[in-house]
Amino acid sequence: MIDAQRPAPPQGGFSARRLIGIDDLSDGDVDYILRLAEYYAGYLRRSAPAPARLRGKTQINLFFEDSTRTNLSFELAGKRLGADVINVPVSASSVHKGESLVDTAQTMAAMGADVMIVRAKEEGLHEALDARLDCAVVNGGAGAREHPTQALLDAATARSAFGGLEGRIVAICGDVRHSRVAGSNARLLRRLGAEVRFVGPARLAPPDDQFTDIERFDTLKDGLAGADIVMGLRMQFERMGAEFGETTGEALRDEESSRRYFREFGLTHETLRYAAPHAKVMHPGPMNRGVEIDGALADDPDRSLVLRQVFYGVATRMAALDALLAGDAD
Ligand code: NCD
Repeated sequence: MIDAQRPAPPQGGFSARRLIGIDDLSDGDVDYILRLAEYYAGYLRRSAPAPARLRGKTQINLFFEDSTRTNLSFELAGKRLGADVINVPVSASSVHKGESLVDTAQTMAAMGADVMIVRAKEEGLHEALDARLDCAVVNGGAGAREHPTQALLDAATARSAFGGLEGRIVAICGDVRHSRVAGSNARLLRRLGAEVRFVGPARLAPPDDQFTDIERFDTLKDGLAGADIVMGLRMQFERMGAEFGETTGEALRDEESSRRYFREFGLTHETLRYAAPHAKVMHPGPMNRGVEIDGALADDPDRSLVLRQVFYGVATRMAALDALLAGDAD
């Protein structure tokens, strides 16, 4: 029987067996996840139950770093597809008894996980897990390096607003240097045909030998000129190590320097005028209102895609889990 409420899932192949970095995905894989995300977004918009394509599968969420959006949306995504989802409270796990992160994850996997979503500050941990575990490893945030599902959900959000990313200008603003969101977005959005720029104080731009072919701007006026999408990033103090020196991290914490930063680099209705007239603002959250973004702009439904990003977070993670675990849509 044909059910009008149940549109056919998108056709297409998917070859990746893990999702640690954007480069784990072929162009075909990216296209498939984005189409599948739109398919699941349809269910979420109608509040209709999605097909339980992950029934019988076990998903373990292992977050060694704080998370609100990512952890919750992975949990919802797995549950909406019928998976058994287990959140490991890391504070109660053996990590605090000195067990290595790999051993902890291996123990969880031995209990029968099909997929493990891992967030950790250690870069390289995900690759070590992938080599040791039988289950699929998904990166829920790795240090300052990659956050692939955030980039995928940002791409899905941008596509829903602009129809596509080909030829679009995306200005990623603020603390790009310490942002895994910026890293994954720079990799993904350019593959989808966008021009990516980094905008912010030079000391918060990535080291000179990274992303050498991405143009950097140290004023909003120049960096936002003609931009279709303006992406704000939080100041990630916790990732500013000693290597970074006292001057930036420490200096920006106090209120006066936050205010100064906002005056120069804060995204507001006013500074958004430098961008294209139809420009939209995005932010992965958590936001610091009055530091990198004005609350009035973040809350403006005509200019801000922030809540749409949260919505697409669930749909896109459903798509990624389905693609990795259920194989080709049938
Ligand atoms: C980001 C993260 O954890 O990398 N948040 C998120 O996943 N939505 C961005 C951040 O921490 O600033």
